[in-house]
Amino acid sequence: MADRKPFIGGNWKMNLHADEAAALARALVDGLTDAPAEVAICPAFPYLHQVGEILSQAQSKIQLGAQDVHTDPNGAFTGEVSCSMLRDVGATVVIVGHSERRHVLAESDVLINAKVRAALDAGLDVIFCIGETLQQREAGMTDAVNWGQIGYGLAGVSSDHMARVTIAYEPVWAIGTGMTATPDDAQAAHQAIRAFIRCGMFNDAVADRVRIQYGGSVKPDNAAQLFAQPDIDGGLIGGAALKADDFLAIIAATQTVAASAG
Ligand code: 13P
Repeated sequence: MADRKPFIGGNWKMNLHADEAAALARALVDGLTDAPAEVAICPAFPYLHQVGEILSQAQSKIQLGAQDVHTDPNGAFTGEVSCSMLRDVGATVVIVGHSERRHVLAESDVLINAKVRAALDAGLDVIFCIGETLQQREAGMTDAVNWGQIGYGLAGVSSDHMARVTIAYEPVWAIGTGMTATPDDAQAAHQAIRAFIRCGMFNDAVADRVRIQYGGSVKPDNAAQLFAQPDIDGGLIGGAALKADDFLAIIAATQTVAASAG
């Protein structure tokens, strides 16, 4: 994982009601005594404030994240939430371009790019998601799809702003299916993503610094092998982020890797 500090995100998706969200946040605060990785948790919008209060009262290092954001600062956008509203409730990071938004809610690369830039301009960190479908993988298009999504999604983002971007490579076929990419396949995709950041879009400094998370059925029993790959800098976790013990074990797996490497 080079010198990059691993980053573990918990994407709670449309799960957990108020009492469950609060209980999970408290269990994570209590369970995360040292910090082998940076950690963010991303509850659904209605519970951001409540979870944020739990984190800040405990002076936890766990960051509060949102799962999406709108491009405009305010106005007639029924149902949407702005960057400044997220900041108001204590969020410091936002997930943009998740495959469920791309494929289920039909978000385009153009819209995702506008969200990335709006969030960065507003001072939010961004977890920018990319990844191929099974059909695209079987057609040998994994790298082309990832490069295309990066090319569109990060267009116009400065090298300085890239310091606040984490890329989450989440092969669509691995999300919520129990089918994880093998560590070798995941590493190959991550290496190609970093090469594109290096040679296609930015430069050595950005490529060496940018963190690339793996997402898709990461569990306590496969996390360490994935995180041991040189271009995998942590993970974006769905199902296993809903159980404190599993999520804490995944965070701890980054430490196992650091210890065995050094
Ligand atoms: P699962 O860990 O449930 O496969 O979800 C991954 C994901 O989509 C995280 O954003």
